[in-house]
Amino acid sequence: MADDPLSHIPHLPMNPVTGHTLQILKDSYGFHHRNRAQFHGPYRFKVFGDWRVCLPGLAAMDLVLHDRDRIFSSREGWKTLHGIFDGGLALRDFEDHRRHRRIMQSAFRVAALQDYAARMDAAFGAALAGWPRGAPFAFYPRVKALTLRLGNQVLMGLDPDDPRSDGLNRAFTAEVAASMGLIRTPLPLTKMWRGQRSRAQLARQFLELIAQRRTSGGSDFFSQMCRARDEDGQGWTDDEIVDHFNFLLVAAHDTTASGLTSMVAALAQHPDWQQRVIDEVTHLDGQPLTVENLGTMVVTDRVFREAIRLRPPVPFIPRRALRDFSWPGEIVPAGTPPIRVPAGTRVLVCPGIEMMSPEFFAQPDQFDPDRFTPDRAEDRAHPMAWAPFGAGAHKCIGLHFATLQIKAFAVALLRHHRVRLAADTPSGWAHLPIPKPKDGLPIELLPKTG
Ligand code: HEM
Repeated sequence: MADDPLSHIPHLPMNPVTGHTLQILKDSYGFHHRNRAQFHGPYRFKVFGDWRVCLPGLAAMDLVLHDRDRIFSSREGWKTLHGIFDGGLALRDFEDHRRHRRIMQSAFRVAALQDYAARMDAAFGAALAGWPRGAPFAFYPRVKALTLRLGNQVLMGLDPDDPRSDGLNRAFTAEVAASMGLIRTPLPLTKMWRGQRSRAQLARQFLELIAQRRTSGGSDFFSQMCRARDEDGQGWTDDEIVDHFNFLLVAAHDTTASGLTSMVAALAQHPDWQQRVIDEVTHLDGQPLTVENLGTMVVTDRVFREAIRLRPPVPFIPRRALRDFSWPGEIVPAGTPPIRVPAGTRVLVCPGIEMMSPEFFAQPDQFDPDRFTPDRAEDRAHPMAWAPFGAGAHKCIGLHFATLQIKAFAVALLRHHRVRLAADTPSGWAHLPIPKPKDGLPIELLPKTG
């Protein structure tokens, strides 16, 4: 159509009613690979009635995520989180985002991380004691429940048997379900309706906790957030703490569960690498899990990096253009750029696809943690080559926290056991909304000597 401002951007054939939605839901990676093979540049696709423009390549990722010209809104990009996670860090833009992020940063200082590491050690040890030994069980649902519980203990500072935990978990799970629901209006009994009621319930509980923690303190993450101040001494109001904490739980929980599952699947599939991680864990025997000790686990670090290169928890990052731009080229008006994208367009970049590029990663579909050794350093070939935590102003603020958590988990799991796949033919992975094994990843825990 002549009046369609995106008509010069190509797209694959689509269903006249559903657009590309079903193709994407069936196999998002395959869909984007097909587009790249066909168009060798930007393309558009239609999901849930909306056109989006995908900008392939690391230069485009740099443009969108570093956003030096302040064109791309994260808040408008993460539309699916609206109504439930409003006010969270990813749902803020530019100066407002920067102000809030500076305050949150103080809850991620090394001294604070030290305390979280000790809490993780205790929480993982206790939780894993209850997992089956010598009999198959599905890893993913267990680790998802575990990261949720860990959220209560490490992030909120609740005791393991605190009666509030179950209610908080149920409310939080309803919120996540709402953010994925197709009906966005909170009509009675829809997921959005349940999610918004759960948000109100969580807010009440958080507000009670804030009142306690502001007066009696504590070293857990929640207390740190209540006291968090930027360098100018600015902190948050109670309502802002509620918004941030609510979003932080969702940002921390599913991503970590997905990353841990990818790592454990890789360890079970590659016994040689599992042995190297076990050796590292054994080396730490009897030592407290401090940030420094966990920092010595360089092999585990490489294994984790490789696991989330191959299967990143956040493979696609959405934004919305607030102003017209052209790509590649200068901000309009300028020259005769290949594509012109008008303000209001939804834009996507794909770290999950870029990290499979043979340009930067040798045999990119092979599991090869040694690509991260200092002499190979394939991840450093380009500043955006390895970006499972994103880049720019919105780069994951929990990156070090997540890495500590993964290592503390590896210690708890492999201190006395090794893992083995319980299914001969794993069933494959679902990639949306977050990667997870379709069969839950059946594994067995065996004694280390077995
Ligand atoms: C393996 C685990 C994790 C992965 C792969 C991951 C990935 C990401 C990515 C890609 C972004 C950027 C999104 C964007 O640019 O729109 C992000 C943002 C964020 N992450 Fe993580 N994340 C993980 C764990 C965590 C944890 C444990 C926490 C908190 C303790 C956390 C808190 C956040 C927050 C608050 C943001 C928003 C930052 C901002 O907008 O300034 N994440 N994460």
